[in-house]
Amino acid sequence: MRIDIITVLPEMLDGPLNCSIIQRARNKGIVDIHVHNLRDWSTDLKHRHVDDAPFGFSAGMVMQIEPIDRCITDLKSQRNYDEVIYTSPDGEMFNQGMANSLSLYENIIILCGHYKGIDQRVRDHLITKEISIGDYVLTGGELAAAVIADSVVRLLPGAIHDEQSAFSDCFQDNLLAAPIYTRPADYKGWKVPEILLSGNQRLVEEWEMEQAMERTRRLRPDLLDSNTK
Ligand code: ADE
Repeated sequence: MRIDIITVLPEMLDGPLNCSIIQRARNKGIVDIHVHNLRDWSTDLKHRHVDDAPFGFSAGMVMQIEPIDRCITDLKSQRNYDEVIYTSPDGEMFNQGMANSLSLYENIIILCGHYKGIDQRVRDHLITKEISIGDYVLTGGELAAAVIADSVVRLLPGAIHDEQSAFSDCFQDNLLAAPIYTRPADYKGWKVPEILLSGNQRLVEEWEMEQAMERTRRLRPDLLDSNTK
């Protein structure tokens, strides 16, 4: 899979995309991530501006269409893209189902929003999907792009050592994960549930399913409504 991220702040993505599972997946060639500085497509060679004041009377600056169009056109001339995503607080709410779907794609572009917003014509003509990572406003779309990339890359075959691990995550099957423990079995009298020490796989799996159901009912009953997937 290839992910192209377009941003005015490439340095904001350095940390999240160069650590742990994502870094390993990149090194193993499982995912190819390219971060592009939108200013490289600015028409203003001197100041490399990519924003301008809005028409009308609103305050703040707006990302211009031309550098974005030039950048996306450039990328599209080299390969086909399955989705051109724009990160924005008014996009579709991101969830595990969306991460699963995106992980099946070959090539995606993620355009990070910034400033007051983006010229609406970008959204109307160049973007195929708009994603929000939650009902709050970030200073820009970079952290949202990192969240999307992270949740997608860990699903790619070979990204996680134990592939089963990704399938037992929270939200796969619309359930929160069961509680998990490791040694010691007794710490200061705080004991690991007896069943986990039984060695009986069937009973352990039944217990884990009951726990997952109980946790989901208690903490996220909305997930049990199948329409939320
Ligand atoms: N940009 C600013 N806030 C955002 C959010 N909540 N989700 C996605 N992109 C954003």
